[in-house]
Amino acid sequence: RSFLQILGRVTLITVVGGTGAFYYATQKDRTPGPQKPADPTKKTIVVLGSGWGATSLLKNLDTEDYNVVVISPKNYFLFTPLLPSVAVGTLSPRSILQPTRYVTRHKTRAVSVIEAEAKSVDPVNKTVTFVDNSEIQGEVTTTTISYDYLVYAVGAEVQTFGIPGVREHACFMKELHDAERMQRQFMDCVESAAFPGQSAEELERLLHIVVVGGGPTGIELSGELHDFLEDDLKAWYPELAGKIRITLVEALPSVLPMFSKQLIEYTESTFKESKIDILTKTMVKQVKEKSVVLQRPDKSVVDVPCGMVVWAAGNTGRQITKDLMAKLPEAQNNRRGIAVDEHMHMAGTNGSIFAIGDCTATSYAPTAQVASQQGAYLARKLKQIAKKEDAEARLTQLEQERKNISGEENVVKLEQEIESVRKSLAKIKLRPFHYSHQGSLAYIGSEKAIADLPFMNGNFASGGVATFLFWRSAYMSTLFSLRNRTLVANDWMKVKLFGRDVSRD
Ligand code: FAD
Ligand code: NAI
Repeated sequence: RSFLQILGRVTLITVVGGTGAFYYATQKDRTPGPQKPADPTKKTIVVLGSGWGATSLLKNLDTEDYNVVVISPKNYFLFTPLLPSVAVGTLSPRSILQPTRYVTRHKTRAVSVIEAEAKSVDPVNKTVTFVDNSEIQGEVTTTTISYDYLVYAVGAEVQTFGIPGVREHACFMKELHDAERMQRQFMDCVESAAFPGQSAEELERLLHIVVVGGGPTGIELSGELHDFLEDDLKAWYPELAGKIRITLVEALPSVLPMFSKQLIEYTESTFKESKIDILTKTMVKQVKEKSVVLQRPDKSVVDVPCGMVVWAAGNTGRQITKDLMAKLPEAQNNRRGIAVDEHMHMAGTNGSIFAIGDCTATSYAPTAQVASQQGAYLARKLKQIAKKEDAEARLTQLEQERKNISGEENVVKLEQEIESVRKSLAKIKLRPFHYSHQGSLAYIGSEKAIADLPFMNGNFASGGVATFLFWRSAYMSTLFSLRNRTLVANDWMKVKLFGRDVSRD
């Protein structure tokens, strides 16, 4: 046989085998099997949230050991690292969502998923009260349930520092609806600028986008906006595209303080080439309907006209978190968030509440990486706790039997069993959480990304197109499901072939 024939056969087998495996995996995902019902003899874990921490916990938790209830106002997990891509239409919103039931329906024991917002936690009586805030409601909209363990993973909300006008006039970049709103508002600015008869001043205003916050969210969003401008708007709005300006405002002396100096400089020079203005040491003091008030490094204040402001100035604790902390004033007095020990126990709750992710105040940065590692850790820990509690209960039972038993042979047998349970109890180690930093990555536009990676006991900093490919593959593999990976890959291909959609819904 010729080499070409062999190559043809190998290719055919690979394609058919690959397609079969892909089809099998998707069908397996779509057809979850029967689940065990809730078991009243087991303890109940209530999980608040369906974000990075909660979803990682749910993926890894063995539901044989517990009855699990998940409460979240969103019935899905949002893959936040790709949210800025949704804001400019590179990705469709649904490509980065994973319904929570797609995870819980595959667990051994049925998990109760409730779309509701937790309103209060009573750490003394161990109860959670939650409400249905959605548009369509049933007869019952408020309920209180009890927990044995509470996993508190409600994340954080956008920090506005009480700056006037931010809530009223700026777009956030935290939730899915923020990205959708930004996309609509941005296209509205462009279409209003295209309305005949606008003055030169008004054109300049409408086409000026101000991004507040030089953290990774602000940087990634500015990069994505620049790509949209270069790759698509230049073709469809040739008379306007050259007039669109992006300004990034940062209060600190530099952007991206968590990255190395070399990568900060690389980002700054890429932004310069991309004509994105960076204003450092500049503080936003007010956001108005048609402008933003800036305090410059020399303390002078200037009113800068703009069509849209995107607010990416960091996070703060949610009201429910502040209320919960206020119920434990002695143990919970950290202004940054919930104080936890190295086992993720919320201080002051005798081990009944675990807090993970952005709602906590730890030495780690509030990132998805930390929250998901904490979620996975907690799943392992809860398994160990269940094992320990089972062994302790068995030991108590055997020791009780030992008091009433007679006959030497029976006593010896029972004592051997007691000894074996004691040994297995001694082996159960509840280890503290250990964070393993996998590095920091950020997309900076123009098909370039930056990466600070831990490498051979040092740090490897890299930026550029190769890093962009690494960024894409890293996020691709981090996406929680085959479904999301397929949808995201499909969107990337669609944009490569047809460009981004410029219609405004
Ligand atoms: P979240 O993921 O925010 O989840 C909180 C959950 O709680 C949500 O499901 C929410 O609906 C729910 N909830 C809220 N209120 C209540 C309530 N009252 N009752 C019940 N449930 C409630 N980190 C990285 O490491 N890498 C990145 O590339 C990265 N990119 C990001 C990009 C953007 C645009 C943003 C906004 C963040 C990014 N982050 C990134 C940070 C990362 O998203 C957060 O650190 C992470 O989401 C924290 O996880 P969490 O589980 O604590 O909170
Ligand atoms: P951030 O807190 O990292 O950055 C916000 C920035 O806004 C700060 O630098 C702050 O100085 C600035 N700021 C605040 N108020 C201001 C004002 N009035 N005027 C001007 N500037 C002001 O917030 P971000 O970027 O949303 O990130 C939140 C968390 O999520 C971080 O821990 C970050 O590491 C993580 N994240 C990680 C990403 C990645 O790794 N690629 C991407 C996005 C977020």
